Amino acid sequence: MSAQRPQSSDGAPARLTIRDIARRKGREPLVCLTAYTAPMAQMLDPACDLLLVGDSVGMVLHGLPNTVGVTLEMMILHGQAVMRGSRRALVVVDMPFGSYEAGKEVAFGNAVRVLKETGAQAVKVESGPAVAETIAYLTRRGVPVMGHVGLRPQAVLADGSFRARGRTPEEAACVMAEARAAAAAGAFAVVVEGVAEPLAREITATLDVPTIGIGASAVCDGQILVTDDMLGMFDWTPKFVRRYADLKGEIAQAVAQYSQDVRARRFPGVPETYFASAKA
Ligand code: KIV
Repeated sequence: MSAQRPQSSDGAPARLTIRDIARRKGREPLVCLTAYTAPMAQMLDPACDLLLVGDSVGMVLHGLPNTVGVTLEMMILHGQAVMRGSRRALVVVDMPFGSYEAGKEVAFGNAVRVLKETGAQAVKVESGPAVAETIAYLTRRGVPVMGHVGLRPQAVLADGSFRARGRTPEEAACVMAEARAAAAAGAFAVVVEGVAEPLAREITATLDVPTIGIGASAVCDGQILVTDDMLGMFDWTPKFVRRYADLKGEIAQAVAQYSQDVRARRFPGVPETYFASAKA
């Protein structure tokens, strides 16, 4: 990070802003990950430019089958936790399904709630054809918005599955149009999910705001992954995820060891016992 970055009152570097993120277009790739809790945000923050409180929280932490059931209250609670745990990264909170589609005034009210109650700097909306007008309404009224095109998880009920988008020329043109519309409406960055490399390249070359790819190849201006996927918390990982750890395996091993130790009375031992008697 540059030595000229502004500092907060305690001397720590100030949080990145949407302008810092926007300036990275075509430059050093943006490092982005999802975060839902304060301790995880604390661990990710030093290495990340942007932390997304994604509505994937519904599937990752709450065991929901998709993101449709996620509520505004859940997003606010997790947004507050991530803000408490982070100091440097820009924090963006997902607007959940149903909180912004009914109309721009409803979207504005809900987005303002998110920003006021969490302290996060921006919201993200999945940018289907009807949403560009809402993005324009929000951004003109001081709500920073990140768009999300391509595979849109909140559209799973309409689309029938989580499948990559832009396989046909018509579908690719549709994704391209949605990306253009989101940027023209004032989105400061656009997540591009689950599209083939040529389409990601075209979107990245066309938009003058950064594209943040997930399953959209290395051509994007930044990358984002669901943190629990890249840490190996699930048995199955999508094709576009690289596993950087096997936390599920490590946790299973640690818990099995603990269980054996308790059953064999090897835990707690003398070091973990207050005023242990000599015989312990
Ligand atoms: O909800 C989420 O985690 C997301 C990312 C996959 C971009 O939208």
